Amino acid sequence: MNDVTNAPNNTLEVIFTPEDIARRLDELAQTIAAAKLDNLLVVAILKGSFVFAADLIRALHRHGLAPEVDFMTLSSYKKARISSGQVSILRDLDLDARGRNILIVDDVLDSGRTLAFAKDLLAARGAASIRTCVLLDKQLPRAVTLEPDYYAFLCPNEFVVGYGMDVAHRYRELPFVGRLVRP
Ligand code: IMP
Ligand code: MG
Repeated sequence: MNDVTNAPNNTLEVIFTPEDIARRLDELAQTIAAAKLDNLLVVAILKGSFVFAADLIRALHRHGLAPEVDFMTLSSYKKARISSGQVSILRDLDLDARGRNILIVDDVLDSGRTLAFAKDLLAARGAASIRTCVLLDKQLPRAVTLEPDYYAFLCPNEFVVGYGMDVAHRYRELPFVGRLVRP
């Protein structure tokens, strides 16, 4: 159990430590590099994936890859913890997806709606291939049929924060993944 000083009303229990994450990302990058995707474009889904994507692209570099990187801000959660079921684009890519081998990077695969939306969108824009990579796979019954091509960890079916992930814009700065323990 970890007390977090800037979280007055909640205690956080660490699920994945910074060391767990670093070790696993290195393995993941090695696996992705082995797929030998040329002309690779990493599409990080903001906001939740920004820390994961930042570490993953540097791990990819260590394994010899030189991807281009772009960002897309998608929204499905708003401030609530339950999905609204609707995904919308808050900010689109700058780069053209046409003909690219794309690796979509997101924080959590939950209902699958966010990743399915991103995949469909990039496929419609003419991507040559699309793979998905998530930090956490919640392995719940999905609202859509979708399994990630790559995931770092299977995740308990609980709301998690840290390492880029938030609840109401808080906790993104934490270097670990934790779950909120109600006081
Ligand atoms: P999906 O569309 O239901 O698969 O939800 C995926 C999105 O919901 C992710 O991109 C996350 O931003 C958010 N999300 C789902 N579960 C959690 C969680 O436990 N903590 C923080 N964000 C979450
Ligand atoms: Mg997200």
